[in-house]
Amino acid sequence: MSTTEEILGRSDANDLDAILAVENIHKDEVIHVVTDNAKSIFTWDYEKGARPALNKLYEKAKNAQWNGETDLDWSIDVDQEKLAMMGISQGTPDETLDVTGTCFETWTDKEWVALDIQMQNFALSQFMHGEQGALICTAKIVETVPWIDAKYYASTQVMDEARHVEVFAKYLDTKLSGHYPMNAHLGMLLDDIIEDSRWDMTYLGMQIMVEGLALAAFGFMHMLTPEPLLKQLLRYVMSDEARHVAFGVLSLKEYYAELSDLEMLERQEFAFEAAVRMRDRMLLQTEVWERMGVPAREAIELTRLTPESMMFNTLLFSKIVPNCKKLGLLDPNDGWLRKRFQEIGVIQFEDWVDTGEEVDQFALGQDIGMPSAEGIAAS
Ligand SMILES: [Fe+2]
Ligand SMILES: [Fe+2]
Repeated sequence: MSTTEEILGRSDANDLDAILAVENIHKDEVIHVVTDNAKSIFTWDYEKGARPALNKLYEKAKNAQWNGETDLDWSIDVDQEKLAMMGISQGTPDETLDVTGTCFETWTDKEWVALDIQMQNFALSQFMHGEQGALICTAKIVETVPWIDAKYYASTQVMDEARHVEVFAKYLDTKLSGHYPMNAHLGMLLDDIIEDSRWDMTYLGMQIMVEGLALAAFGFMHMLTPEPLLKQLLRYVMSDEARHVAFGVLSLKEYYAELSDLEMLERQEFAFEAAVRMRDRMLLQTEVWERMGVPAREAIELTRLTPESMMFNTLLFSKIVPNCKKLGLLDPNDGWLRKRFQEIGVIQFEDWVDTGEEVDQFALGQDIGMPSAEGIAAS
């Protein structure tokens, strides 16, 4: 059993100084090389539908393809400053925040608006980089998964992810005002997922953890943004993402039922590492604070460690935890992952609906409901 220090490189998952100490050493690179350590597997068993749930998902995916160039209305003009003044993005703290004696003391509306704009540039940049991670991971799954139905499905996801990278990049380039490099915590996680030689770890890291969080994050942004093009873009992307998460749940459920406790422990540890890396990435927009010229630690303590902000971050795990439960990852080895999820404050979602069950609700044309603050308080 690994210690938190061995898994995360720090003994306390919540140690803010250690989280802040992670430096983005790759921020100036143009290409990034990762060794993927995997074997490509041919299968001579071509029986289509041997795994009916995956086959069904594949058939759905073929009918659900869309075109980012023609299905989205790129003629919509986006006024980032006006949107920032409405205070809808995550930059602006509650009006009740007392900034006396803090790094924000001299800030006027101008700085708060600039912060809001940078937060949006940052968030969309991370979405774009994460989508490229998904593109690479699903191309790897096509090679490494031993089942024909999964290879077929994963190939549709490769196309989906290419489209997602494309639309986020176009939105950033034509509607927003600047890119950010991949955040260090997200980058470490994507590298770990791609470097792992075991085919199911690509699924666990990408489909269950990264895409589970993305599905929740896109949902909140879709619900909160008044900007019609972004709303439309996110709605289209979410219709694909729900299928991708369901693909992970359906594939791993079969595989994990056969694993030993020791093998399950390795998956539990990997899921915990992924959860913490993503939590760290959502908590710390260090690069934005640097660009705004304020000390990151103080800014984070004032704006990110508030109860409202922490609750929002917790809600991002509302897809991941029920999906981990469905895969049987919470309870083996004396409830190892259950205890870790308790430590980082997200276990309360375990009985929420899993994505294998709710995938059809995300299809285009359906009304999507998102969990509310009242919902979480009641759970
Ligand atoms: Fe995607
Ligand atoms: Fe995806």
